Amino acid sequence: ALERTFCIIKPDAVEKKKAGAILAFLEEAGFSILAAKRTHLTRAVAEGFYAVHSARPFFGELVEFMTRSPVFVVALEREDAVAHYRKVMGATDPAKAEANTIRKLYGGSVGENAVHGSDSLDNAKIEIAYFFPGNEVAPVAG
Ligand code: CMP
Repeated sequence: ALERTFCIIKPDAVEKKKAGAILAFLEEAGFSILAAKRTHLTRAVAEGFYAVHSARPFFGELVEFMTRSPVFVVALEREDAVAHYRKVMGATDPAKAEANTIRKLYGGSVGENAVHGSDSLDNAKIEIAYFFPGNEVAPVAG
């Protein structure tokens, strides 16, 4: 089915000026970019976004990293977008990611891994709404 998913181009990739290359990679992979904006996450926004990870030992490090410098938040659309984006994004640890995945190409470490991707369709809806409230992304037709 035609789906939407959510991407963050993380501070490490933006610092390396790879945001455009990653957006081009996503378009080549068949995604439509429905919305994209550059923003510098505040601590509160990053903690809210990653609330499900708040008990993890790496939570503090994750929030420090994600608030270090600007990111791009991106809403994507494609047939089977959630699963397909996870495939082209690659494994969380770039060292374990398959060749020609975004994290293999642009990630540096398990923490600084270039991009975030929604893990389910339900979370994609929540994450898109968190960064693009109201009608900033056109509602799904029908
Ligand atoms: P992301 O998809 O943005 O969602 C949670 C993030 O936590 C994940 O990407 C990783 O970048 C980060 N993460 C996962 N495991 C570790 C770890 N062991 N150390 C630091 N960060 C981690």
